[in-house]
Amino acid sequence: MINLKINTNQNIYNIKCKEGEMLKDILKNENINFIFPCGANGRCGNCKIKVLKGIEQPTNLDKMKLSKYELEDGIRLACCIYLKHNMEIYLNEITEYNFLDL
Ligand code: FES
Repeated sequence: MINLKINTNQNIYNIKCKEGEMLKDILKNENINFIFPCGANGRCGNCKIKVLKGIEQPTNLDKMKLSKYELEDGIRLACCIYLKHNMEIYLNEITEYNFLDL
């Protein structure tokens, strides 16, 4: 079992996951509102999250879509993350109150 801690601008979630689960599926199953502008297809580069603990090397898509500074700062594309070990991340959870500020 893998422990995933998700810090958002609204809440903190502690979730038990299986190895190999995709972050995008976990967010959907947990009803955490996060926008995948291109439908989580790896095309837009806008599903940015920050890995606080348990960071992996960037994927090829991360390298194509994110700046060197973002990569060094722990930013990754949420739609490209498979859970391999315990991880802590930060993301901007969308609510009806902050949706218009995007
Ligand atoms: S949702 Fe578009 S790259 Fe992840």
